[in-house]
Amino acid sequence: MTSNNGNVVERYLRQNRQLFGDEIYVSFEPVQPDVIVGSESLTEFEESIHDCTRCSLGERRTNFVFGVGDPNADLVCVGEAPGADEDAQGVPFVGRAGRLLDKILASINLSRNNNVYICNVLKCRPPNNRDPLASEVEQCEPYLIRQLDLIKPKLIVALGRVAAKTLLKLDSNIALKDLRNKQHDYYGTKLIATYHPAALLRSDRFKRPTWEDFKWIRSILSTEG
Ligand code: URA
Repeated sequence: MTSNNGNVVERYLRQNRQLFGDEIYVSFEPVQPDVIVGSESLTEFEESIHDCTRCSLGERRTNFVFGVGDPNADLVCVGEAPGADEDAQGVPFVGRAGRLLDKILASINLSRNNNVYICNVLKCRPPNNRDPLASEVEQCEPYLIRQLDLIKPKLIVALGRVAAKTLLKLDSNIALKDLRNKQHDYYGTKLIATYHPAALLRSDRFKRPTWEDFKWIRSILSTEG
C-alpha cells in the first residue's frame, strides 16, 4: 500500500468514527469490474477481457473463446464452455457439435452471421471438458451478462442441461426435460432450454424434440416485436 493509500484509509476511518463511533460498516455488495460497464461494443469488450485470469482456467487455455456472430442478433445461443476444438481455434462451437448446430440453425433460416450470436457461460476450456465449477461461473458469468447487455437479443437459448441449470441457478440434479417447453427469464431476457447438439450426436432420440424446440424458437423470433 502506498503512503497515499494509507492517507485515504486513515481519512475514511476517521470519518467513519465521526459518523458511527467505533463500529465499522463494510459493504459486501458484489462490485462489477470497470471493464464490464466501460465497453461500448462487443469488440471493445472482448479486447478488454481477453487476457482474463480471474480463475485458474485462464492460465491453462490456448485461446479465450469470447463469442461469434451477429452483434445485433435476436437470438443468442449459450453453451456451457469451450471444448478442445474451440480452445484451439478461439471460436465457440466449431467441432462436430458446432457443425450440427449450424445445420439446425440453417433449418430455420438462421446462421451464426445472420441474426444469431453464439457463446458459452465459461470463456475458457475446463480440463478434460469437466462441468464448470461454481467459482468459475461466478467469475465468468458477468462477462456473459455484459455481452447480452450489448447485444440485447429477444431470446436466449441455453444449449444443454449444464448451460440451462447454470444460467437458471437450479438444482444440480434437474433434468433437461423439466426445463424444456417453458419460457424462463434471464435478467430480463426470455430464455428457453433445448438439447445440446452433442446429445444429438450421441442419440437420435433427441432429434425430434430438438426440431420441435427450434420450430418454437422460430415462432418466438417471428412474433416478438
Ligand atoms: N460445447 C459447448 O458447450 N460449447 C462449445 O463451444 C463447444 C462445445
